[in-house]
Formats: sequence, structure tokens, C-alpha cells
Amino acid sequence: MIETNEIETDIINPVSMPDESLFEATLRPQKLAEYVGQEKIKENLKILIDAARGRKETLEHILFYGPPGLGKTTLAHIIGREVGVNVKVTSGPAIEKAGDLASILTNLAENDILFIDEIHRLNKTVEEILYPAMEDYCLDIVLGKGAGAKAVRLDMPKFTLIGATTRIGLLTGPFRDRFGMTYRLDYYEEPEIERIIGRAAKILNIGIDDPGKKEIAKRSRRTPRIANRLLKRVRDFAQVKAAGKITEDIAHQALSMMEVDELGLDQNDRRILEALIEKFGGGPTGISSIAAATSEDQGTIEDIYEPYLLRLGLIERTPKGRVATPAAYDHLKKPVKKPAGQTLL
Ligand SMILES: Nc1ncnc2c1ncn2[C@@H]1O[C@H](COP(=O)(O)OP(=O)(O)OP(=O)(O)O)[C@@H](O)[C@H]1O
Ligand SMILES: [Mg+2]
Repeated sequence: MIETNEIETDIINPVSMPDESLFEATLRPQKLAEYVGQEKIKENLKILIDAARGRKETLEHILFYGPPGLGKTTLAHIIGREVGVNVKVTSGPAIEKAGDLASILTNLAENDILFIDEIHRLNKTVEEILYPAMEDYCLDIVLGKGAGAKAVRLDMPKFTLIGATTRIGLLTGPFRDRFGMTYRLDYYEEPEIERIIGRAAKILNIGIDDPGKKEIAKRSRRTPRIANRLLKRVRDFAQVKAAGKITEDIAHQALSMMEVDELGLDQNDRRILEALIEKFGGGPTGISSIAAATSEDQGTIEDIYEPYLLRLGLIERTPKGRVATPAAYDHLKKPVKKPAGQTLL
């Protein structure tokens, strides 16, 4: 058995779980049919799953990528459940040495799924152990040290690697090519987010009417995780102010109090836009300067804030850096200044 604690099985232990992950686990759809939206991906996965089940074959390696909170981890667990195999969970930063990965791999059972979250954070030596494992289900290991060291090739059980990343660009080409299927998760449509809110409300036993769902959905950045989180916080507000029932008005009041605006932007998003406009004249400026000006981590800006601001068309990426668009000035109610040498779109 592996004695590291990097590897967890799909067991939910409410005692050791922080509140947020317990909350997420409670709301996580268990079957493909419960998973709202991402229709193309679901259709595709259904075919893969049926084939794997019917022929009792090992599922091919799958890579999910897209912004945080859109359902990558959820899909990995659903696949395991639908195929009827175990899912071992680990993450890129948790696997420090090639030996850690080797012990995880040799402990898998035939057809098991190994889910590696944040797979872009695997280090290179670990990644290289994965190549032969993914291609030929074998491990190249060096036994001994110095002159007497011997390279041996060990067979391992056939398995499926499911990787998830918010940063596909950080994976090397050869690594990406070793996945049989790659799926990009995109932001959800608003009616889908309303359905996700409806589903969560049912599970959590929260009273909410349709306009209430709409109001929360509008400000959820088209992201299920955020929709569920906002629902939870609006529920708390409703309990204190309105005997528990969430209506449009209650949702509106609660979200305004939380400073989530009508585009779903919170204080952090607005701080980033404000810095870009006020400190850098609207750009173009590099992400590292924006990070320094807002005391935010550069990776966090790139992973969490920027994708949605880009999606809303509030900022644009240019070869010279990030630029605030007129829509950003408009949203923050700032007069559009046109700095010398810059063309605003
Ligand atoms: N399609 C969906 N239908 C219903 N609920 C969903 C869906 N996708 C995600 N969720 C909900 O959103 C939460 C976050 O999803 P998940 O953890 O799978 O996101 P993720 O893409 O893995 O995010 P990260 O990149 O941060 O790891 C889940 O707990 C689940 O309740
Ligand atoms: Mg995840």
C-alpha cells in the first residue's frame, strides 16, 4: 500500500473535510444525466463510457481543461462511477518525485482511473515517467545507484489517466498528444446556471422562486461553483431577512450587499479593471504589472479573474499586454481617455 497521503480515494469524510469541500461534494452530480449543460462533451463521453463498459476495455486517457469551477473534477468522478471503476485522486503539486508516481501507478487495479488535478504543475521528471505508462502501460525504473544502476521496465495494470487543468498552454505538446481525448469546458449558458441553482436548492432544501434563480444566475459568472456559493450566501441572508424564501428582491439585496455587481464582478475583478484603467491608462500593460499594482498573485489573475473579464469583453489581450476596452470604462462609469499611441477598440 502507498503510505503517502497524496492519494485519496473517492470517499467523502465529512469530519476531515473543510466546509467548502463538503459543500461541493454534497452538490456534485453523481451521474452524467444529472450533470447540467456541456452537451457536446456529455454526448461524446457517453459513447466512450458505453464502449468501455460494453467491451470491458480500458477507457482512453482524457484531458479536461477550462476555467475553475466549471465541472472538470465532477466529470472525472462521474466517469468512474458510470464505468464502474475506482478513481484515485491526486494532483500535480502533490506528486513530487518520480518514485511517488511509480508507487501510485503500481497500486492501481486493472482499468482504474487515476485523476490528476492541476496536471500542468507536474514536474518534468514525473511527467516523463507518465509517458511510457500512458502509452504502453509500463514503468521505466532505475534500480540501484552509480555504476551498478540498472534500468528495468516493469509492466503495470492498464489504467486511464484523467487530467484536469486550467492552463492547457503550460502542458508540453508531447504530453498533450498522449491523451486520446481532450475536452474544453466552456462557461455555461444562463438558463443552465438557473437549472444548476434549482438543483442545488432542492438538495439543500432552500425555498427559491424562478425570478430568484434568475437573479442569482445572472451574477454567477456562468460558473456552477460560483452559482452554488452565491445561493448559499443568499440563503443565509434570506433566513435573517425573509423567513428563508429567496425571491428576486431578496437575491438582489443580498448580492448588492456582497458587492457582486450585475455582471457578476466582485471587488477583486473591479480592482483589477480599475488598476488597468487608472494606473496604466487603460493599457497595454503586462499581467505582472497588474499583479504588482493590485497585490494579487499573477497566476490567480490569469486563472481566475482574467478568463471571465476576457469573456465579457472588458479586457483584451494584445501582443503588448492587456488593454481595457470601452466596455470596461463604461461598466466602471469612467470617462474613456485615449492615451497617446493607443488605439481603443
Ligand atoms: N454541470 C454541472 N451541473 C451541476 N453542478 C455542477 C456542474 N459542474 C459543476 N458543478 C458544481 O460546481 C462545483 C465545482 O465543480 P468542479 O469541482 O468539478 O469544478 P472544476 O472544473 O474541477 O474546478 P477547478 O478547476 O477549480 O478544480 C461542483 O461541486 C458541482 O457541485
Ligand atoms: Mg477541480
